[in-house]
Amino acid sequence: MKFLPISLLILALATATAFAYDPSPLQDICVAIKDPNSAVFVNGQFCKDPKQATADDFVFMGFRNPGNTANPLGSKVTPATVMEFPGLNTLGISMARLDFAPGGLNPPHTHPRGTEVLVVVEGTLLVGFVTSNQLNNTFFSKVLYKGDVFVFPIGLIHFQLNTGKTPALAFSGLSSQNPGVITIANSVFGAKPPISADVLTKAFQVDKKVVDYLQAQFWYDNN
Ligand SMILES: *[C@@H]1O[C@H](CO)[C@@H](O)[C@H](O)[C@H]1NC(C)=O
Repeated sequence: MKFLPISLLILALATATAFAYDPSPLQDICVAIKDPNSAVFVNGQFCKDPKQATADDFVFMGFRNPGNTANPLGSKVTPATVMEFPGLNTLGISMARLDFAPGGLNPPHTHPRGTEVLVVVEGTLLVGFVTSNQLNNTFFSKVLYKGDVFVFPIGLIHFQLNTGKTPALAFSGLSSQNPGVITIANSVFGAKPPISADVLTKAFQVDKKVVDYLQAQFWYDNN
């Protein structure tokens, strides 16, 4: 028995070594600065004095009303990330409410910092994601009905389309306080300033006319 604490200590040290790595990014960018006096940003959010916290910090009421789907995509994502729901800070979790008009689309996008698990509450959704190049860009897709749950693995491109004749409603949980959203079309064709047509004509194997057309579109952001 007297050797047990020592073996526990060794185990603890080994574990500490095994898990000693850089912290995960909690936002898109966090550029280092040399002057600590202007260091007003952190990787994530500042913490409120715990003595000042109230029950209101731990409630989010933004899901009570449907999102407005009267837009070019016919969908609206209402996020409940640390930006809208400060009580989530440091907890590694967030949510979203997804409203769809009939035919509404949440277009192909990725969450660079979070896996998403989605439950359909009303209606019918065609959903899918595509694996990375290493797994040959395999497309996994399902039609989901009320009560069905689907998972979109972290970082992979995915979408949801309302294939029903009625509005659809879904809720998602995401494994980051700030999962981030990269909408593919908006990022590639709506970048400001624009990505050079030389890059996009080669990348998409199309004429410059097509690239010009796509870059001239208004890429609505439903988030
Ligand atoms: C991807 O494609 C290659 C070449 O056809 C094949 O050898 C490999 O098994 C495929 N991998 C998967 C995960 O499908």
